[in-house]
Amino acid sequence: MSFFWNAYIFTLTGIMIFGLMALLYFTRRMPGGNDPEETTGHSFDGIEELNNPMPKWWLNLFWITIAFGFGYILLYPIGNWNGLLNWSSADQFTEETAQHDAKYGEFFARYASVPVEELQDNQQALRMGQQLYIINCAICHGQNAQGYYGFPNLADADWLYGGTGDDIKTTLTNGRRGQMPAWKDTLGTTGIAAVTEYVLQMSGNDHSKNQALQGQVIYAQMCSACHGQDGKGSLLIGAPNLTDNIWLYDLPDQDLRRDIVVTLNNGRAGNMPAWDDILGEQKIHLVAGYIYSLSN
Ligand code: HEC
Ligand code: HEC
Repeated sequence: MSFFWNAYIFTLTGIMIFGLMALLYFTRRMPGGNDPEETTGHSFDGIEELNNPMPKWWLNLFWITIAFGFGYILLYPIGNWNGLLNWSSADQFTEETAQHDAKYGEFFARYASVPVEELQDNQQALRMGQQLYIINCAICHGQNAQGYYGFPNLADADWLYGGTGDDIKTTLTNGRRGQMPAWKDTLGTTGIAAVTEYVLQMSGNDHSKNQALQGQVIYAQMCSACHGQDGKGSLLIGAPNLTDNIWLYDLPDQDLRRDIVVTLNNGRAGNMPAWDDILGEQKIHLVAGYIYSLSN
């Protein structure tokens, strides 16, 4: 911490503590104040305020808290002062993490050599994977991994990036980012409307035949490189299968046609964070086992 901020903290703390001490000292007795019946002259609806000193025990409690404050500053860090105990929250965290790892590391290590696909045969491994899932993943993918708008369902067998143990682990370790370009400027409103009808046709939904015919031409030129000639998508870049009528971007109360138009107009960039630094290889292995078990 720079000299300035160090001095700033100490000055403020000093003003605070010595100011309070001064306040206590100078108000311990009211001027005059020897006559227990004397009033301050304040009257509230006929209730008068007596001019008596504050109770001794109450004042003493205050002095005790101030003494406690000095003790605390002496023992614990403030500004650039490390405190006599040399305690720091970072050290405490490291120490507790080490203790935790020593205690549970053995559990995690035990399953590291079991293939992801076979972890589901072990109740304990499954439960640990589920715990990790609830803590880290449920916030985005939902309590039961059913997903939501923009967050894929992990409990079905439909995968953006592949559903083998290795695929899932790669997804978790490095994270994933889907990159669907925006088409508003290239295709215009009519082009987007046409290709939307073609996507609806591919997925077996109601559509306009004429527009879909035009859309098919656009699709072959602009979309098939990523989503495939047959519309089945690409696990390599996470381009969704457009023929299975399972949608990543489908608001529950909104017309599917509108959702697709919005996707095409603006593009999409779903972002799955990387977990390598946070969970480490062994925990990723366990949570991958849990994810795998949901659809197998
Ligand atoms: C901040 C939100 C967020 C969190 C937290 C999160 N994910 Fe994701 N995850 C996503 C998004 C968004 C995608 C889709 C990426 C895309 O659109 O390309 C995704 C994709 C995935 C996929 C790929 C699905 C497929 O179909 O291939 C898997 C598997 C996955 N997440 C598992 C997990 C697990 C396990 C955790 C917890 C360790 C987790 N996610 C935590 C947002 C999140
Ligand atoms: C550069 C590769 C690429 C091209 C070209 C591309 N897409 Fe995509 N598309 C993607 C990816 C990747 C996603 C998933 C985005 C995400 O995960 O956030 C996606 C998502 C979509 C979705 C949303 C699917 C869902 O489940 O909600 C639709 C619909 C779609 N694309 C249609 C098209 C159409 C139509 C075209 C051609 C006009 C096209 N895409 C061109 C890569 C591409």
